[in-house]
Amino acid sequence: MTDARLAELADRLPNLRLLTDPADLEHYGRDWTRRWTPKPLAVVLPGDVAEVQVIVRWANAYGVALVPSGGRTGLSGGAVAANGELVLSLERMNRVLGFDAVDRTLSVQAGMTLHAVHEAAQSHGLIYPVDFAARGSCSIGGNIATNAGGIRVIRYGNTREWIAGLTVVAGNGELLQLNRGLIKNSSGYDLRHLLIGSEGTLGVVVEATLRLTDPPPPSQVMLLALPNMDALMEVFGLFRSRLNLQAFEFFTDVALKHVLAHGAQRAIEGEHPYYVVTEFDADEAAQDAALAAFEQGVDRGWISDGVIAQSEAQAAALWRLREGITESLAPHRPYKNDISLRISALPLFLHEIHQLLGREYPHFEVVWFGHIGDGNLHINVLRPEALSDEDFIAQCEHVTKLLAATLERHGGSISAEHGIGLVKRAYLRSTRSEAEIALMRGVRQVFDPKGLLNPGKLFG
Ligand code: MLT
Ligand code: ZN
Repeated sequence: MTDARLAELADRLPNLRLLTDPADLEHYGRDWTRRWTPKPLAVVLPGDVAEVQVIVRWANAYGVALVPSGGRTGLSGGAVAANGELVLSLERMNRVLGFDAVDRTLSVQAGMTLHAVHEAAQSHGLIYPVDFAARGSCSIGGNIATNAGGIRVIRYGNTREWIAGLTVVAGNGELLQLNRGLIKNSSGYDLRHLLIGSEGTLGVVVEATLRLTDPPPPSQVMLLALPNMDALMEVFGLFRSRLNLQAFEFFTDVALKHVLAHGAQRAIEGEHPYYVVTEFDADEAAQDAALAAFEQGVDRGWISDGVIAQSEAQAAALWRLREGITESLAPHRPYKNDISLRISALPLFLHEIHQLLGREYPHFEVVWFGHIGDGNLHINVLRPEALSDEDFIAQCEHVTKLLAATLERHGGSISAEHGIGLVKRAYLRSTRSEAEIALMRGVRQVFDPKGLLNPGKLFG
């Protein structure tokens, strides 16, 4: 080992897994953004909490920056290590620590995948309800660090609602037990909630106690084709008033084109500009209500066509049309916006933004999809082949500035669920006031006095 600091770490922790192979540095140094060239100092994969504490104390002693790392499925560069940082991967800390049937909680290590958490909850007849397409690769620690949302927020809320307790290694190596699984705890600042969504800048989440709940009743999945953008919010209002929704997601014909080219099956014939996938509780009354809502939507000119899944396989095929979008776009390395608004602000905002994007991106392919029922839109822009990466990003950044200003006027957020990371730090001010940012920096200073945890992320 050529680096004396790493040699000293290896001395302190003789059993630590420490990787310096170039292929490993590349693998662990990047996330799904693929925009930065990975360049970490090394990668460590601790096996327990005590090792994490020693690593953080070592980093303090040598002034080495740390990048806490989960499944690296992030889309904002939050887990990128491109500046000689030490990647602290929680990958090996991926076990269930305990289940409490009375409290209905599952305690897990931070490196468990979301899918493994789902399976563990199901093995006890319960569910952990936060869910999204990256479930097989993302880690629960990463979900907590970004307060991840996904496709069931409309029913269950974001990750934040499901965290009963956290074990965290703070920036100075101190171990914190936050909230200890309590339902009620009116004893001052709830530091747990500061950690959730802090993108690895306040501490390393090493363990979490997750709340579980009963599985939902059997559900039905429906795909709807809509004739125009205005119909989106009308149909949402209609379905929400008649049905107990579990999901209400939208995508455009452009998104459909990509997902079909990637192997999904067309479910509705013809050309339609907008589609909705919705899932709702399906007792007998709901079946009638869904049909009545559908017919009313057709009568009012908001729905052009629709299909209701007749089997689990068909439900999965309809969901694939929505959930397969990110993967189908990934080869194009899209520029991603992930924005959120109050639902009441959406109709006006959608019109403004549609005009803005049409004007600013006349020659670019723009793909819209997302969690419209939560006020969360994903706007993905694809690079024309003739344009260099640099020019493409510069043009997209120009449009994002305009988008951020529009969001500010409408009281929205530049990041709904992907986090700020590296990608959106220049736009934090469109969503947070100077006073808020100053307080956030102050909090960071308290948790991580030397600023070694994920530096450059969130604030820049
Ligand atoms: C999604 O909703 O599919 C995810 O947030 C991923 C993405 O936006 O690409
Ligand atoms: Zn999303």
